[in-house]
Amino acid sequence: MQASKAAGKRNMDLAAAVGEAEQRYAAQNPKSLALAKSAAAHMPGGNTRTTVHYSPFPLYFSSGANSRVTDSDGHSYADFVNEFTAGVFGHSNAVIADSIRETLAGGINLGGCTAHEIALSEEVRKRFPAMELMRFCNSGTEANLLALATARAFTGKPAVLVFDGAYHGSIIYFVSGASPLNMTFDWIFTPFNDLERAAAAIAENAHKLAAVIVEPMQGGAGAIPAAPGFIAGLRAACDENKVLLVLDEVMTSRVGYGGLQGKLGVSPDLTTLGKYVGGGLTIGAFGGRADIMEKFDPSRPGAYPHGGTFNNNVLAMAAGHAGLTKVLSRQRVEAMNDLGDVLIGKLSAVAGKHRLPVQITGQGSIFGIHFSAGPVHSVADQLRAEKGREASVADLKKLFHLEMLANSFYVARRISGNLSIETTAAEVDGLCEAFDTFLSVHGGLIRDVMA
Ligand SMILES: Cc1ncc(COP(=O)(O)O)c(C=O)c1O
Repeated sequence: MQASKAAGKRNMDLAAAVGEAEQRYAAQNPKSLALAKSAAAHMPGGNTRTTVHYSPFPLYFSSGANSRVTDSDGHSYADFVNEFTAGVFGHSNAVIADSIRETLAGGINLGGCTAHEIALSEEVRKRFPAMELMRFCNSGTEANLLALATARAFTGKPAVLVFDGAYHGSIIYFVSGASPLNMTFDWIFTPFNDLERAAAAIAENAHKLAAVIVEPMQGGAGAIPAAPGFIAGLRAACDENKVLLVLDEVMTSRVGYGGLQGKLGVSPDLTTLGKYVGGGLTIGAFGGRADIMEKFDPSRPGAYPHGGTFNNNVLAMAAGHAGLTKVLSRQRVEAMNDLGDVLIGKLSAVAGKHRLPVQITGQGSIFGIHFSAGPVHSVADQLRAEKGREASVADLKKLFHLEMLANSFYVARRISGNLSIETTAAEVDGLCEAFDTFLSVHGGLIRDVMA
């Protein structure tokens, strides 16, 4: 009786805090609200990209410059969403904009091969030597679909091992269970960061397993890095069992000059990329061992056919090349990730100071914040922490998100974020201060919900 009374009060307090935050948000964002209402006339829920939806209605943005974005009501935010990691270059990089303008002047849809794709592939190969040969496509989702289809065709085996909590694209989604839209591959699931179980699953299914696909840090699950030795252990298990290892570096490739594979010293059979590789324009890429990728050589008998109207679209090829060669030097990649590590350290120190059930995860320029008393090494840890209080945790996330927006910091509702090369040390400190204030004001609610 006592317990349910306490739970009732806690829920009322949280509901009141969320209600107040929502009211303030609606009052401050009338133009976004009006746009959200008109969007619903032609798109389901007014939305064409679930990732950017949040209640009570999402902000509608009108512009961005350097490290900041501005919404339709004129509020400016330090951007810690950065297009869900694609926005490495910030919002107004002059070198990339010049390259797009210059390329545009030569015509957009030339309907044939151009020198642009040669230049970009050469640069990608320099950073990712495991991509001995590669192909471009239009998104990270497409890159993963093609990599997995390639692995299945090359090995003649049907199954793919994937990790609980993985996000490999809009129809390869396992963040909170499997999406009903998922590709109907023969999926085999195993927990992330449990090498023993993964190695056993690889050995047991070797006869039918084409590939293991893994993010070296799970992004959609909230920036959960692979434990030391996990990816190298998968490499060994794949080798022992003649299974291909596909590293999905669509998100993590920004964490090092040669991605996380460069930092970990692991060479996958296939790598997938996307996001910033097109300089901020639509792109995907997959590639790897020459003996596998050669199968795409159209001059060979029985070559894998792979069309794609926009695979070599000149704007993305040129913008990507300009971004990689003229902007994103090794030193700038490292500086961005060093500042990200500073942010992760400072957020952890703030959480530690308040002695609250809050965990910080991430690596380099990508971070996640979790409501959990124990460490979060997998989505199972997170689900265990949230069990029986899912709605309240969702409310805590909403409250945090709305409070950060009120303080001019744009983070993702799932509470994760990332830096661009334009993010400043002052913005990092500002976010930590806002986090500190949030924990001071709402720490009691967090403690109650997670008790
Ligand atoms: C690890 C990972 N793989 C694949 C994708 C899908 O990329 P896209 O949104 O370009 O289809 C994403 C996107 O966030 C991702 O984070």
